Amino acid sequence: MNTLKDKAMKTKTFDVTDIIDDKRLLETRLKEAAEMLAEGRTVAFPTETVYGLGANALDESAVKKIYEAKGRPSDNPLIVHVAEFSQLSDIVEEVPEKAEKLMKAFWPGPVSIIMRRKNTIPDCVTAGLDTVAVRMPENAEAFVLLKLAGCPVAAPSANISGKPSPTRPEHVLHDLEGRVSGIVAGRCCEVGIESTVIDVTSEPPVILRPGIITKEEIESVIGPVLMAPRKSTVKNIPKAPGMKYTHYAPDAPMILYEGTPEKMFGDICEAALESLSKGVKTGIIATDETIDSYEKILSEKAAGADYAVLSIGSRSDLNMVARGVFDVLRRFDEMEVGIILAESFDAEGVGFSIMNRMDKAATEIR
Ligand code: TXA
Ligand code: MG
Repeated sequence: MNTLKDKAMKTKTFDVTDIIDDKRLLETRLKEAAEMLAEGRTVAFPTETVYGLGANALDESAVKKIYEAKGRPSDNPLIVHVAEFSQLSDIVEEVPEKAEKLMKAFWPGPVSIIMRRKNTIPDCVTAGLDTVAVRMPENAEAFVLLKLAGCPVAAPSANISGKPSPTRPEHVLHDLEGRVSGIVAGRCCEVGIESTVIDVTSEPPVILRPGIITKEEIESVIGPVLMAPRKSTVKNIPKAPGMKYTHYAPDAPMILYEGTPEKMFGDICEAALESLSKGVKTGIIATDETIDSYEKILSEKAAGADYAVLSIGSRSDLNMVARGVFDVLRRFDEMEVGIILAESFDAEGVGFSIMNRMDKAATEIR
């Protein structure tokens, strides 16, 4: 469901799905998209984490178009993307030692680092904060686009504000076609959840958003850092402006189940049979380990009822689960289910980052 009204813009799509390991061809295909960015227009593009909606970070009116296209509250700051280390001097006052260590270890890659900003960055990028988040993405499409554009690019996730982040080109087209100048349609995102956001302006540094690069990996590079606990409220988290808004919400209410895999399975079967008995189209977020068992029970006990069971991946491969989490939520939107019943994961390592997203998508945790 798309809640914003006018979709009046002409959006040009740049299809690069067929390009594998050919930087030259990417450059040819992305030249016009890069020009659009340099000229102050908005272009969505794939990164290794999720698709981003970019605009020239040094151009205030360009950045404002991002907030408009997404319907994003203006007090939620954006991440600035760079392709070269030399671009940092336009963006931040200084690169603290811990930030430098993080860059050496994880850039290009899925870690955004918050540092003190320079005044060359317009207020609307940072929502008026005196800090700015910066990231150097890893995938070839983003790298070539940023390099050709020649400017730092502010880019939040390329979804309508509040909806699940986009990990496939069709997600971006669904949300933003008609609202942005360009969309680079590449392959699906390998990581699937957004970058780890770490603020190095406080001591110890604080992870404001967990990602595929875990607390343990960060600590192995810069020593102890703080991390907001899992079901924390805004008041426990220092300086996390985006935290107070609805996130990742599928159209239907979503109930997240906790406990052992056996308990979750039993509880979800029971809840599914109950909602199906009331005529509610029911979606189940299962795992590779449980999907067949749900199908078996429901086909026996609720034959002919309107339900769908999707696997989010295997419990033995949490990177795969991270890659699938937003896609599953969006597939249930497409199917127009009335309720989503979801299994949860142990909140450890990457599981912690997956649960950070699922907690926010859920309307209730049982
Ligand atoms: O993987 C990603 O980070 C993706 C891709 C496109 O790079 N981008 C992304 O951006 O997820 P967005 O806008 O959806 O999330 C940025 C998060 C928000 O929670 C925002 O509040 C936080 O980073 N953030 C940005 N600048 C900040 C700052 N100066 N201080 C504190 N938090 C900040
Ligand atoms: Mg986002």
